[in-house]
Amino acid sequence: MKMKMNIFSFLFLYSLLFSLLNHHGVSSRNVSDNPSSPPRGWNSYDSFCWTISEQEFLQNADLISQRLLPHGYEYAVVDYLWYRRKVPGASVDSLGFDVIDEWGRMIPDPDRWPSSKDGKGFTEVAKKVHSMGLKFGIHGGPYQESGRQWWAQDIGLKERACAWMPHGFMSVNASLGAGRAFLRSLYTQYAEWGVDFVKHDCVFGDDLDIFEISFVSEVLKELDRPIIYSLSPGTSVTPAMAKNVIGLVNMYRITGDDWDSWGDVTSHFDVTRDFSAANMIGASGLKGKSWPDLDMLPLGWLTDPGSNEGPHRKCNLNFEEQKTQMTLWSIAKSPLMFGGDFPYVTAKHGSNCRKQVLPGDSGLLKDVGKKDAYIFILPSCEHLRAKGWTLETLDQDIAQICWKDSLRNKYQAPFCLYKRRPVLAAEEYEAKFHLLASDTVDFCLDASPKKKLTSKELRRGSFSPCKWDSNQLWKLSRNGTLINSYSGQCAVIDTVEANVVSSGVRAWVATGRQGQIYLALFNLNTERITMSAKISDLANVLPAENLKNFSCKGKEIWTGKYLGETKELISTAVESHGCALFVLYCK
Ligand SMILES: *[C@@H]1O[C@H](CO)[C@@H](O)[C@H](O)[C@H]1NC(C)=O
Ligand SMILES: *[C@@H]1O[C@H](CO)[C@@H](O)[C@H](O)[C@H]1NC(C)=O
Ligand SMILES: *[C@@H]1O[C@H](CO)[C@@H](O)[C@H](O)[C@H]1NC(C)=O
Ligand SMILES: *[C@@H]1O[C@H](CO)[C@@H](O)[C@H](O)[C@H]1NC(C)=O
Repeated sequence: MKMKMNIFSFLFLYSLLFSLLNHHGVSSRNVSDNPSSPPRGWNSYDSFCWTISEQEFLQNADLISQRLLPHGYEYAVVDYLWYRRKVPGASVDSLGFDVIDEWGRMIPDPDRWPSSKDGKGFTEVAKKVHSMGLKFGIHGGPYQESGRQWWAQDIGLKERACAWMPHGFMSVNASLGAGRAFLRSLYTQYAEWGVDFVKHDCVFGDDLDIFEISFVSEVLKELDRPIIYSLSPGTSVTPAMAKNVIGLVNMYRITGDDWDSWGDVTSHFDVTRDFSAANMIGASGLKGKSWPDLDMLPLGWLTDPGSNEGPHRKCNLNFEEQKTQMTLWSIAKSPLMFGGDFPYVTAKHGSNCRKQVLPGDSGLLKDVGKKDAYIFILPSCEHLRAKGWTLETLDQDIAQICWKDSLRNKYQAPFCLYKRRPVLAAEEYEAKFHLLASDTVDFCLDASPKKKLTSKELRRGSFSPCKWDSNQLWKLSRNGTLINSYSGQCAVIDTVEANVVSSGVRAWVATGRQGQIYLALFNLNTERITMSAKISDLANVLPAENLKNFSCKGKEIWTGKYLGETKELISTAVESHGCALFVLYCK
C-alpha cells in the first residue's frame, strides 16, 4: 500500500499525529509547573524562519488551540529575531536592524508586533495566547549586538560568537556582575511579559557555555513564573556533554537543525539511542524533568532555512518518511513542536480529522535494535557470569563451543565458536584448543591483554591469525567457563546493538502508563522488507519481570490492522523508509 502525498495522507498523518501525541495523557496540561512529559506545541521557525507577524502568529495559535490543544499541544512559540525590523536589507545574518531598548535588551519589532508599542513588549500577545488556553514561548537569546554598541560593552563575549550565526549572536560573560545583572533583567522581563517557555540558542553543542546556562537556569528557578527552559541547537552533543546540563533545563537539542530531508530524519536514530541508553529521557531537570529534543517537525507547509520568506512550499518528506519521523520522535519521547503553517493545512485539508485515542503514556524505552554478540574477556573466572559455555558436536570433525546465558537468559540463539581439535586430545574438557570465529578463516580468539586487566575491567575479545601460543589456547571447564591458558581469564558473550547503518533496521519499545507496550519497527533501507520482533525480546528489554512467557495482541497504529494473539513473533512488511507502530496488550 503506497500512499501518495495528497490531501488524504495529510488527514491521515494528522490523525495519527494526534493519536501519537495523545499517549501522554491529560496530565501534560500542567506541564509547565512540573514538566512530567515532554513539552508539545508549535514553533514558528520551520514555516516563517524569522519573518512572522503578530497576526500570523495568533492565527496559528488559534488553530493550535482548537485542533491540537485537546491532544496536549499547548505551547505556541515565536522563534528567533522577533526584534528585527522586516525591511529591505534585513535578513537572518544582517546587522543594524534590531529594536533594542536603552538597557540593551531586545524588544519586539513594533511593525511586526503592533501590540508591543508603548513598551508593552509581548504582554498583549501573551494575554491572547493564554486566553486561548495555550502557553506562550519565545526565543530568548542569545544576545544581539546588532552593529551598535552595547551600553555595557564589556559583558558580551565577542570572541565567543555563535558558531552558526557569527554576526550578532554572542554569549554574555556570566562570571561578571554586570553580565549576570543583564541576564537577570532580560529573563525577569520575559516573565513580566507572561512568557512560559524560553528557547535559548548558541549556548549548547558546539557553543557550549555552561556558565551562562547555569546562570539563566538559576534566574528561572527564582522567578515566580514557571518557565520551560529549552536549549538549541545540539550539534555534536553527546550524553557525556549533556550530563552536566540536563539538570538545569527542561529540553535540549541533541542534533543540529532538522529539516525535511530523509538524511535529517535518519541522523536522529543513533544519537537518540545513545541518550536512551544513558537513561536521559525524562531525567530530572529544572523544576521538573528534562528531555532530549529531536527538533521541530517540519511537516506540512514550510519555508526554507535562513529564508526571508514565509511559508511557500510543501514538505519534501514522503508519507512513509513523515510516519517514521513522527514515530521516532514520539517513541523517543522528544518534545514535539509542529513546524508547519497551520492556517494553510487546515484550509486546504478540511477539518474532519479522524481522531484516535491511545490510552496511557509512553514510558521507558530501549532500543532493541538488531543485536550483535561480542566476546568479552572477564578478568576472573570465579564470577558466575563466566558460566554459560557448552560443547556441541556437529559431526566427528567439527565441534563448537557455544554460549547460552542461562543466568540472564539474555541471548536466545546460542552464539558459537568453532573449536579446533585439541592439541593433546586426552579429553574434551580441560584440553587446550583454538577457538575460531568461522570454520573457513584462520583467525583465533585471543585473550592476551596489552595491559593487565583490573578486577572491574571487561575487554572486548579479538581475533588474530592463529598461532600455537598459550594466549590463543582455551580450556572448557566442567562448570561451563572458558578459561584462557595463558592469563587464566575467562571469555563471556554480551550482546551489543548493531550498527544501524549496516543493518538499516531499527526497533524501539516503550511502555505505556496502563501497561500497554509500544513497538516501533523502522525500515531505513531503500527496499520494502519484512520485519519482525520476538515477543521474548520485548520481555528482555522491558523492566517488568512478569512479562516473561507472555502473549500479546493489539494493533498496528498506522494501518489500524489488528494483530491476533501471539507468543512468538510480531511480523509485518514495512515500506522503504517507513515504519510500523504496534500498541500491544500482553499478559
Ligand atoms: C492542573 O493544575 C490545576 C491547578 O494547579 C489542578 O486543579 C488540576 O487538577 C491539574 N490538572 C491535572 C490534570 O493534573
Ligand atoms: C569573564 O569575566 C571574568 C572577570 O572579569 C574574566 O576573568 C574572564 O576571562 C571573562 N571570560 C571570558 C570568557 O572572557
Ligand atoms: C569454574 O572452574 C574453574 C576451574 O575448573 C575455576 O577456576 C572457576 O573459578 C570456576 N568458576 C565458577 C564460576 O564456578
Ligand atoms: C509458558 O506458558 C505455557 C502455557 O501458555 C506453559 O505451558 C509453559 O510451561 C510456560 N513456560 C514457562 C517457562 O513458564
